[in-house]
Amino acid sequence: MADRTCLAIVLAAGEGTRMRSLRPKVLHGLGGKPLIAHALASMANANAVAVVIGPGQEAVAAEARKLLPQVDIFVQAERRGTAHAALAAEPAIARGYDDLLVAFADTPFVTRATLERLRAPLGNGTAVAVLGFRATDPAGYGRLIVEGNHLLAIREERDASETERGIPLCNAGVMGLDGRVALDILRQIDDGNNKHEFYLTDAVKIARAKGFDAVTIETEEDEVRGINTRAQLAQAEGVLQQRLRAAAMEGGATLVAPETVFLAADTKLGRDVTVEPYVVFGPGVVVEDGAVIRSFSHLEGAHVGQGASVGPHARLRPGARLGAKTRVGNFVEVKEATIEAGAKVPHLTYIGDARVGENANVGAGTITCNYDGAAKHRTDIGKDAFIGSNSALVAPVAIGEGAYIGSGSVITRDVPAGALAVGRGRQVIKEGWAARLNAKKQAGKKRAHASD
Ligand code: UD1
Ligand code: CA
Repeated sequence: MADRTCLAIVLAAGEGTRMRSLRPKVLHGLGGKPLIAHALASMANANAVAVVIGPGQEAVAAEARKLLPQVDIFVQAERRGTAHAALAAEPAIARGYDDLLVAFADTPFVTRATLERLRAPLGNGTAVAVLGFRATDPAGYGRLIVEGNHLLAIREERDASETERGIPLCNAGVMGLDGRVALDILRQIDDGNNKHEFYLTDAVKIARAKGFDAVTIETEEDEVRGINTRAQLAQAEGVLQQRLRAAAMEGGATLVAPETVFLAADTKLGRDVTVEPYVVFGPGVVVEDGAVIRSFSHLEGAHVGQGASVGPHARLRPGARLGAKTRVGNFVEVKEATIEAGAKVPHLTYIGDARVGENANVGAGTITCNYDGAAKHRTDIGKDAFIGSNSALVAPVAIGEGAYIGSGSVITRDVPAGALAVGRGRQVIKEGWAARLNAKKQAGKKRAHASD
């Protein structure tokens, strides 16, 4: 089978009305990436992938292209059923592949392994393989009418008889077809049903009428859950989070309270990483071995080096790169900045568009003023530099190696290596000033009485 070629068609033309959203359903996020990205990821073994979108769903096409630059996009002009949607990809099918897979973009958990199982029986006289599952509540699903291993027909709920509705074995919506006969079969499907739609599921009876076999491959219900509503999306998120947490722990990370930690599908946690309760990982985070992520931290697009300590209450935004044994403490935000090995940014600081050199120490309340209202500028802090508390580093600016910045400075010019820079007004002392102020107040009161 490994040498059979495969075209996967992902149907995404649905309106997703039940989401009540301005955004196309398949662009809603699950584990930090859009639903369609999950569907496309499971198609990794296919030689070509086609996505069928609805009119005006350019955003869906753009997302698909971002993930798979080679993807073929087809627009189904009118929503006339799943077979009609599959045929929108006819030019791709006509290129000729050994296997054809048709799947839905709103069914995120189907695995590559399952798709391989579905492809396995194709050819050798088997024209159709349908993914089936035993539904706890079969309502709304197409029922699989089987005889032993053979699939005789799929009956949509609204076309099913009372007895057929009693069948628990349901169509998951994923179908494999022998590429040599797929077009023939799809073209013969008509809309002679209650909904006047072209049902992909009719491929089964047509294949059989042509003398081919059809089979069903069973899988778990959890794998084939489709997302139609926001409640189902939240449920799916719950299922995914449980898996991600389990995998993270399996991989050697400690999650002190796993149910409070939210991971993205691509989060990478090294060995002996500790994640304290209530931490959120957005997409694109790598945490290396032995690092500690303390409570209430939020990370996305960030790299945390070996043995680093982050938080509590830290925010790492895209482009934050923390070297080994660095410390980014409470109420610190880091964006598009490298904190080199051993450097410390312990509290109340914003580091954006910057480099903090090795073993440098950035005092509480330091701000890199990276934005002048028009453009972003960089701050470069040299190795071993010491930035006094509550300093504003006005970018573009460079602090030399080992330089000292006095607390409360506003630094607008580069500071040479090893220098001390103090950028604040001189402190003024007026001895006895408070007593003089009080005397003035008393005098004022007496004048007020006198004029009563
Ligand atoms: C479909 C199956 C049903 C199965 C169920 C599993 C058919 C006829 N029925 O029913 O047997 O149990 O899925 O969830 O296939 N789509 C388009 N264009 C269209 C129509 C649909 O792109 O014209 C896409 C939708 O975006 C969606 C998918 O196809 O992703 C399924 O369509 P939907 O209308 O939800 O089918 P179901 O009625 O759920
Ligand atoms: Ca559906």
